[in-house]
Amino acid sequence: MQIIKSKENLAAALARLREGGRALAMVPTMGALHEGHLALVAEAARRADKVVASIFVNPLQFNDAGDLERYPRDEEGDAAKLESAGCDAVWMPTPADLYPEGFATTVHVAGITEAWEGAHRPGHFDGVATVVTKLFTNVAPDVAVFGEKDYQQLALIRRLTVDLDLGVEIVGLPTVRAEDGLALSSRNALLSVEERAAAVALPRALDEMARAIGAGASPREAEAAARETLQSAGFGPIDYVAYVDGDTLEPLKSAREGARIIAAASLGKVRLIDNRAG
Ligand code: PAF
Repeated sequence: MQIIKSKENLAAALARLREGGRALAMVPTMGALHEGHLALVAEAARRADKVVASIFVNPLQFNDAGDLERYPRDEEGDAAKLESAGCDAVWMPTPADLYPEGFATTVHVAGITEAWEGAHRPGHFDGVATVVTKLFTNVAPDVAVFGEKDYQQLALIRRLTVDLDLGVEIVGLPTVRAEDGLALSSRNALLSVEERAAAVALPRALDEMARAIGAGASPREAEAAARETLQSAGFGPIDYVAYVDGDTLEPLKSAREGARIIAAASLGKVRLIDNRAG
């Protein structure tokens, strides 16, 4: 696997990967890779001839300088994992590569980004939209694979790719889960043993909600029941539990095809998010 550290080497590396008209898939990441990321690489390898991943801890999407500082970094370990998952190249740009002196452009996707995570993490989605646009314009992949775990992020990336004519096919991969159903996340490592045991209430509350709505309960009743389940398991604050349109993320008052159930809640100091089909 080729490791591309400088922006100058990127074009030549991409030209080699694309030789003979080969299709290129991309998996953008911020590193700290787990099984969920490696599943994205495996899916990318099924969808194209060559796979390029990126590792870039994007300063624009952090609201808190301390969080950015503490974000885990393990370039060597991540590169080894990517290689074993079948990745052909990894690009590790520096902040100066992507945001050189004088950089003054922000990509803002209206609507989809305002509520839910957008309301709780001001500026976060502008940072995501800006960096994904830059990663796509530099790499120009045919297809890019993202996890459904960050469902709102996936929805905004689909929107911006269409709106800006980026010509990249966006594939969303179902969330990879631990045996008990908890969505894999680098944040799970921050949970105490007791919190980790309680965390499974989150996917269970969403499953119960889907069952209840399927059986005729109103989304509002099902949301209230899910909140109670989470509270009894020790979650708090509960930022949101909602039944929404799967494309626009607008709240829905009644059951509908293509709906999504989304939630964010904290256990102690660890904030977890999850979602599932509604
Ligand atoms: O999901 C992530 O890891 C990041 O938000 C992304 C899409 C790589 C942009 O920095």
